[in-house]
Amino acid sequence: MTPAGLTGSTRDEIARLLAGLPAHRRTTFELRVDRWWDDLVEGLAPYPEPTAVAERVLLLAAAAYRDRDDDLHLLDERRMLEPDWFQRPEMVGYAAYAERFAPEGTGLPGVGERVEHLRQLGVGYLHLMPLLRPRPAPNDGGYAVADYRQVRADLGTMEDLRALASRLRAEGISLCLDLVLNHVAREHAWAAAARAGDERYRRYFHVYPDRTVPDAYERTLPEVFPDFAPGSFTRDDELDGWVWTTFNTYQWDLAWDNPDVFCELADVILFLANQGVEVLRLDAIAFLWKRMGTPCQNEPEVHQLTQALRAVARMTAPALIFKAEAIVGPNEVVHYLGQGRHHGKVSDLAYHNSLMVQVWSMLASRDSRLATHALGRFPAVPTTTAWITYLRCHDDIGWAIDDDDARAVMLDGWGHRGFLSRWYSGEFEGSTAEGLVFQHNPATGDMRISGSAASLAGLGTALRRTDEGAVPAVDEAVARLLLGYTVVFGWGGIPVVWSGDEVAALNDESWAATPEHAADNRWAHRPRLDDELVAAARRDPESAVGRVYAGMRHLALTRASLPHLHASVQAAVVASPDPGIFAVVRRHPVGPMLMLYNITETGREVPGWWIREQGLNPAQVIDALNGYPPHLAADGSLYLSTYQPVWLVRP
Ligand code: GLC
Repeated sequence: MTPAGLTGSTRDEIARLLAGLPAHRRTTFELRVDRWWDDLVEGLAPYPEPTAVAERVLLLAAAAYRDRDDDLHLLDERRMLEPDWFQRPEMVGYAAYAERFAPEGTGLPGVGERVEHLRQLGVGYLHLMPLLRPRPAPNDGGYAVADYRQVRADLGTMEDLRALASRLRAEGISLCLDLVLNHVAREHAWAAAARAGDERYRRYFHVYPDRTVPDAYERTLPEVFPDFAPGSFTRDDELDGWVWTTFNTYQWDLAWDNPDVFCELADVILFLANQGVEVLRLDAIAFLWKRMGTPCQNEPEVHQLTQALRAVARMTAPALIFKAEAIVGPNEVVHYLGQGRHHGKVSDLAYHNSLMVQVWSMLASRDSRLATHALGRFPAVPTTTAWITYLRCHDDIGWAIDDDDARAVMLDGWGHRGFLSRWYSGEFEGSTAEGLVFQHNPATGDMRISGSAASLAGLGTALRRTDEGAVPAVDEAVARLLLGYTVVFGWGGIPVVWSGDEVAALNDESWAATPEHAADNRWAHRPRLDDELVAAARRDPESAVGRVYAGMRHLALTRASLPHLHASVQAAVVASPDPGIFAVVRRHPVGPMLMLYNITETGREVPGWWIREQGLNPAQVIDALNGYPPHLAADGSLYLSTYQPVWLVRP
């Protein structure tokens, strides 16, 4: 090990920790320290003594390396030989709550019973929603963690988690878990110690004796849950002070400006990697660093600390990758994949929230101009990273439409956001969507929306119709839903299917029956996977659910055969000649891939010359979605029927 600044005693301590390992394994660790040390120290710059913190962390890394199982060491080797494993076109993701996905009452072992279901959908990445021990309900669906080293008792044990991870790995499925690192539950041991008066642990949190500092911060802080938890600070009698709580009152923000917090979380990361977790979803990562006079989101220190966390993870467990959950604007989100000096050194994956919002926006407005403008000004991201694309997830949809983007296409941002809320809550004339309003904030006019993809696409309304319009209405809703997923699968990166969407699950009517969920209508779109629906989808491919299920499987299969979809190539939106068509092109060395999406319920034509301008001859392409040449009119223009997508490539 050659890093400058490493003291003799740290070297001795590492040698002692690794003494029992074979020589080649000790060498590997030393090489990795050499490789990542500078990134680590540089990332720790927010602390007064970066090198001293780096040395502390190195000891944690060495101990975890020593304890890592042989098969995980093997996985590390494999991933280093195929660093693009998560960028490949064949990669499809799936996200679910373990207890809602596994057969009822079977817990983590039961998740393993769903492997066949996942395989049918081509899944290679499974995100299980928070399952580390939370505080007793309410716990924000598990996002209030009381112990990072224990599994929720009703789901099983750490042993079960390890067994599941290894079973999934054997099937080629990587397990992704949440790392809730912005906050812990009020009941977490650190918070309990702080409440009991332990000064060391009090410094793990942002605690203020009175409202002076909180009031000063709140002048520039956004409201995350204006309904359930207004404000960002909570008075706690045991602490005898105000503690920072960005989310709910029982979720205490960690003080990341304290290096002890960094070391604790670094150790948790290594621990989870050693259980066989391959992807960590860095929950609410944007909020980690606080700075007076700012919204306390996306501060530069967030990226520095992520770089340091990644460096330490690479030393012990290079198979582990990070996924940033930063639901922030385009100019900010790209930093989570690494811009400038953090290029390729922070998260490997990040959620493409804007794409999701723009798809729903286009489906409501039947106009692609806003999406084309907004997505068109996304800065490029490192070629070693990938977007997580999705149509729905466990959260509500916030209408992240930028005012400037709206203005650029002659829309009023406030008005368009209001339109989307009214459209998806079904209030707008002509809408068949059945979403629920989540966290209406009268101060900002914000009205977020809950509801399943199928319900938002109007399938529930269509299925209830009994008149002669019922059949076309169902066809349209199915086509709308599949079109949304086709955009998601065709973007590049990892398309993640939200559990239930593959069988067009409608809103769970009984969501409010569970008392601890009654105040949070996000549970409407977190249904239990319905075995009957899955069986029906498989049995009857002509039914609405059958078509959706077959359509999703087909998308996964088609994707896998298209090198153009490798995430190292960026998707580019192009202004289409018709606002009723959304156009995306991917310029891969094998040739361009042009994706056209008819976002309306009427037939559309795209002129042949325009397709040629994108680098493809319409008479010499196939639509990869069906393997045939596309439908061309006599004048050479390409015809797209209701909600039809085409993925044009050279044969
Ligand atoms: C993330 C989660 C959300 C949760 C919040 C607080 O945004 O997706 O469900 O409420 O973090 O942990």
